[in-house]
Amino acid sequence: MKNATLISALFLAIAWQSCKKEEVPSTTATGSPVLPATPYAYYDASHSDSQINHKATLGRVLFYEKRLSLNNSVSCGSCHKQSAGFADNARFSRGLNNELTDRNSMPVMNLPTVLGVFPGIGPGVDLFMTRVFFWDGRERDLRSLVSRPIANHIEMGVDDPSSLIPRLQALPYYPELVKKAFGDEQITLNRLADAVAVFMESIQSKNTKFDEYIAQQSKPGILNAQEEAGYQLFLSKYNCSGCHNPFPGEYNSPEPKNIGLDAYSPDPGMASITGNAADRGKFKVPILRNIAQTAPYMHDGRFKTLEEVIDHYSNGIQDSESLHPLLKNAQGSPLKMTIPDHEKRALIAFLHALTDYQVLSDPKFSDPFQSF
Ligand code: HEC
Ligand code: HEC
Repeated sequence: MKNATLISALFLAIAWQSCKKEEVPSTTATGSPVLPATPYAYYDASHSDSQINHKATLGRVLFYEKRLSLNNSVSCGSCHKQSAGFADNARFSRGLNNELTDRNSMPVMNLPTVLGVFPGIGPGVDLFMTRVFFWDGRERDLRSLVSRPIANHIEMGVDDPSSLIPRLQALPYYPELVKKAFGDEQITLNRLADAVAVFMESIQSKNTKFDEYIAQQSKPGILNAQEEAGYQLFLSKYNCSGCHNPFPGEYNSPEPKNIGLDAYSPDPGMASITGNAADRGKFKVPILRNIAQTAPYMHDGRFKTLEEVIDHYSNGIQDSESLHPLLKNAQGSPLKMTIPDHEKRALIAFLHALTDYQVLSDPKFSDPFQSF
């Protein structure tokens, strides 16, 4: 009897929860986005009703807006999927005419923010020089980056992004969103880019098991023994942290690097920007947060699993002029780490401890066009 009361109380609680959800109207017939009735918490609660918050809201709608592509079929979110750590689980992503991108989609998460302090204060000096975007590092300004995928013929195919303005003006929900974000209803490309950039900057992961471990000063019991061993290997024995910075609020060094995937990289990487042969095969150092969710791996998605990635570092490093010094031995030959199996498993366990379940499902970052 007692149990039955408990169970019905539980059901009531669940029913109440779902009613609360239904107060948010579901997608309307005109395909308008569903936005939370309460102010959209942008960065943290203390900034919840600032203008930046409204910019992020507008940016979120634009990020998932398929009408930003020539034939209304693709949005930024099509290739940067929240459930896949804002990357894509396909080796190459499909753009507007089902054509494939030439590189693996990158996670749009923990992008370095202006001055590395607070997102969205606008263009400024990047004191830490951390803002390098795309695999080959060809862009440094997140706001001018936004127009690139829109204009890219494979990705979204809009040759003249200013043609988007009348298109967006005709939609019922933009004037108000733009007014809240910028003070009046005028839609300009700079405003759109700023809003999308602010939204992307707001996607900050800081709730992994590893973050908790660091916050609690390595208190025992947060990471299990295998994860902790993996962390030590990552940090010291194999010096993965020489390039990948896993610590909360910190970024990787911005210079693209060659990790010896090929003796002669078919993709020039950074060399396509600098024209310097010594930059061939250098690519941006990826963020490892949510790495367990973003398979396949590397700029060309060549590795299906983390096991394959670790095998590369263990025995697969190829020599070339641009191979990074950290991956060479004292004689200048490619390192052979020959990592034993139990250490491979520990490294992978540590990489799994970098999963942030909150950011992968946080409604703040979700597709507002999806019906609930
Ligand atoms: C068809 C798939 C596709 C679409 C659509 C797409 N992207 Fe991307 N995105 C990619 C790929 C692939 C890369 C890596 C490209 C490269 O390095 O050459 C990338 C890279 C990026 C990066 C660089 C991340 C970093 O860490 O350097 C950002 C930021 C980004 N995209 C934002 C956007 C925005 C904003 C939109 C919408 C306006 C968008 N993307 C639309 C596939 C896509
Ligand atoms: C010399 C710098 C450097 C070192 C040292 C290094 N990495 Fe990397 N790592 C990179 C770069 C650069 C890439 C991207 C290469 C590419 O796509 O061509 C990468 C890619 C990865 C990826 C795939 C990421 C993705 O999103 O596709 C994983 C996982 C990874 N490294 C883990 C490790 C581990 C574990 C170690 C230590 C055993 C390590 N790395 C050591 C620079 C480094």
